[in-house]
Amino acid sequence: MNKDFLAITDCSADELHDLIRLAMDLKKMKHRKEIGAPLKGKTLAMIFQKPSARTRVSFETGMYLLGGHALYLGPAEVGLGKRESAADVARVLSRFNDGIMARLFEHQLIVDLAKFATVPVVNGLTDFNHPCQVMGDLMTIEEHLGRSTDFQITYIGDGNNMVHSWLNAAARLPFTLHLAIPEGYDPDPGVMKRAVDAGISEIRVFRDPAEASKHADILYTDVWASMGQESEANKRKKDFEGYQVNDTIVQCAKPGVKVMHCLPAHRGDEITDSVMDGSHAIVFDEAENRMHMQNAILIRLMADKG
Ligand code: CP
Ligand code: NVA
Repeated sequence: MNKDFLAITDCSADELHDLIRLAMDLKKMKHRKEIGAPLKGKTLAMIFQKPSARTRVSFETGMYLLGGHALYLGPAEVGLGKRESAADVARVLSRFNDGIMARLFEHQLIVDLAKFATVPVVNGLTDFNHPCQVMGDLMTIEEHLGRSTDFQITYIGDGNNMVHSWLNAAARLPFTLHLAIPEGYDPDPGVMKRAVDAGISEIRVFRDPAEASKHADILYTDVWASMGQESEANKRKKDFEGYQVNDTIVQCAKPGVKVMHCLPAHRGDEITDSVMDGSHAIVFDEAENRMHMQNAILIRLMADKG
């Protein structure tokens, strides 16, 4: 693998399959308490500019389970790009730590961290993408469908960081990606073009969520206003009307459709209680698998080779 994991497109299709296989093995080993300590003595510095439950807990717990240690650095400590440049933070942390994980607003800052860090940098979400989430999601799809290619996923909602990572996945692994997105909220055209031009997956944008959901194996949604967009929440509530994953939409998909959400969910907005708590939802498997997938990524990037 490359030194860093900033985007799914940093990996080849073979590397993505390898990560999914390793994550599934690590999950079994964890439940049998046989995981060993492949990262014994290693430390991961975690920089957070934004809030998090899953990302912090999964990386911190994961590092402990792998025999290492993780340090939480909140917005007040680092002041990335303000108190100190990303380049200097990267140089300093590389002297102490064996890896850096960062959850940031501006994507360029994580690119800068990776450029100047001599240790691996892992993207724990930026305004632009969320690759660890989609990798955990692909593992969850493999668990539930028995395959992580050749499925149809229908994403309903904002063309945001999650969509960019799904488009990047579609540029590497073959599946059908239907995006049901209201006008004005489409994903970045460059990311879309690169995914379409890769010619690996079938990608279509719809305005009608019901039409997009036909034949879906997976329905996927995310919040309408992401972290940092809170002031737009009321406007977005109106603009995304009709883009809710509810029982009617579930009925449009395949009978055994699985419903996914990266969480946190705004119940009653993008997804109803009845779907979140119903038999189609696999959202908590998805949350758990973040850790197993990230453990696989950390091992591939940080474990001593040979
Ligand atoms: N899905 C996810 O990244 O959750 P957190 O924002 O709680 O980390
Ligand atoms: N799009 C959401 C994802 C949260 C995991 C956000 O950026 O807030």
